[in-house]
Amino acid sequence: MQKAKILVTGGAGYIGSHASLVLLEAGYEVVVLDNLTNASQEALQRVEQIAGSSVTFIQGDIRDRACLDLLFSDHDIHAVIHFAGLKAVSESVTQPLSYYDTNVCGSLTLCRAMQAAGVCRLVFSSSATVYGPDAPVPYHESMPRGRTANPYGTSKSMVEQALEDLSQSDERWSVVLLRYFNPIGAHPSGLMGEDPQGVPNNLMPYIAQVAVGRREELTVFGNDYATADGTCVRDYLHVMDLSEGHAKALGRLSTPGLHIYNLGAGKGVSVLQMVEAFARISERPVPYHFAPRRDGDLAAFWADSQKAEQELGWQARRGLDEMIADTWRWQCRNPQGYSTDIHTKSQRTSKC
Ligand code: NAD
Ligand code: WQD
Repeated sequence: MQKAKILVTGGAGYIGSHASLVLLEAGYEVVVLDNLTNASQEALQRVEQIAGSSVTFIQGDIRDRACLDLLFSDHDIHAVIHFAGLKAVSESVTQPLSYYDTNVCGSLTLCRAMQAAGVCRLVFSSSATVYGPDAPVPYHESMPRGRTANPYGTSKSMVEQALEDLSQSDERWSVVLLRYFNPIGAHPSGLMGEDPQGVPNNLMPYIAQVAVGRREELTVFGNDYATADGTCVRDYLHVMDLSEGHAKALGRLSTPGLHIYNLGAGKGVSVLQMVEAFARISERPVPYHFAPRRDGDLAAFWADSQKAEQELGWQARRGLDEMIADTWRWQCRNPQGYSTDIHTKSQRTSKC
């Protein structure tokens, strides 16, 4: 039987590369479209190394309609998993037009090209940030989208709304919105992981770089929140669990309409708990100091992921220690991330 072909936009990035691996291992063919603005092609070579099968890589932009049309005419795509986008919250405040252009215009261009090609099955990377600051915890999919705190969050909310309207306007469409909580961790091989460019914005890669000696100490933003130890609480989930959630979500695309799922572990972990656990598992000190709160941070939120459990058969299976051990293995074996191999070119690459 012919394998179903999945287009993975942003498939060279952190989550997209892990998801591409899971898809290959589940028997799908994978076509990755990525413009490599925040990724290295080396990540895909590692995917192929682990999976023992190949990915078709197309270097191109989701905003490039001609590139998309060519892709859909060259490949018989069954469904699209759409990861491509910009994700740095603080950068979105200083460069809102870039964020709306890539995240919103890019997603709309992708949907137009899909519709023209008759490919109306889409899984979209959304975020817990769409619930907004006033939602009670745990967040549940039945809650409305709230006001957003930055252009990044607004861009996710806008695309969600557009996809909701699209799926109501045309019954051919089936769309799954996956609202991620805080993905961390790495593939257990130590060959793949998160490779942020420049100073990491997020907690986990920052801690990992402190533990490996690449940065001096962690700045903990705020110790006066109304939480048990005064630091912010988040719902961290393993990137492999998250990736498996995408494979399960593909099954939901056989039912037309809009389907929304939280993907989180359902447990809150504070910044200080994370620091303590990382130091224990890595057996390295993680020095830190307290600083004022970071603008826009919420004190605490976590997921109610029962809907994903009931309807997708998905649950986060890997615990915090495993998330940290896998991050640490990746960090130790690749202290500079993929960068040493950043100029490697694959023979299978085509360019739009
Ligand atoms: P990432 O930056 O590692 O991956 C995004 C990928 O998209 C990169 O490979 C980048 O090169 C590519 N890309 C960017 N603009 C593009 C364009 N115009 N055309 C083609 N490719 C483009 O980020 P990630 O952490 O893997 O996140 C993947 C998706 O999940 C994003 O949409 C992000 O907003 C969403 N998300 C991430 C998190 C998180 O904490 N990492 C949480 C919630 C949602
Ligand atoms: C976690 C906690 C920080 C760095 C962000 C986006 C969200 C989603 C996931 C994409 C917070 C604290 C962090 C540091 C710290 N992304 N922290 N020192 O803010 O929950 O979510 O990434 O969709 O939209 O907002 O994750 O990892 O940045 O922060 O003390 O150097 O760690 O204040 O409390 P966040 P994070």
